[in-house]
Amino acid sequence: MFSNNMIKALNKQIQEEFFSAYLYQSMSAHFASENLSGIANWFSVQAKEEMTHAFKIYDFIIERGGKVKLLAVNEPQDLWDSAQKAFEDALEHEKHITRCFDKLMDQAMEEKDHATRIFLEWFVTEQIEEEASASEIVEKIKMSGNHGHGLVMLDKELGQRVFVSSLAQE
Ligand code: FEO
Repeated sequence: MFSNNMIKALNKQIQEEFFSAYLYQSMSAHFASENLSGIANWFSVQAKEEMTHAFKIYDFIIERGGKVKLLAVNEPQDLWDSAQKAFEDALEHEKHITRCFDKLMDQAMEEKDHATRIFLEWFVTEQIEEEASASEIVEKIKMSGNHGHGLVMLDKELGQRVFVSSLAQE
């Protein structure tokens, strides 16, 4: 059964995903203003991914006859001292999101809501990738430095990222 508590928790997660999009788009705007267009591109693609995460949950609630309630989204930070700090913040944020999905999964299991449990498995797996990609970039910046040639090369690499909607694959 799809309980009101489960619907409430999933609506809260929609808010978390929209905040994630806001946070990453804010990082994108910051690095665009610093003329690091590749890093700006990477975060902008990430923001779009977060929107698809929100809509996946949104569609699931509606499909199961629940009511979506959109909650207020907080204003994100808008300045970062360095690219390393922004990616470290992104990694910490993804760890927080992983904990959110772990809690949602616990709730679905406690409520014996198997449809939600199976639905959440996609996100649990996705979070492994989300943490790994932020962590990999933090390590690359640590090796190449926050300035100069190394950062220019990384900016070029991150400029290659293209948005592919996971909603379109279904
Ligand atoms: Fe929607 Fe980055 O997790």
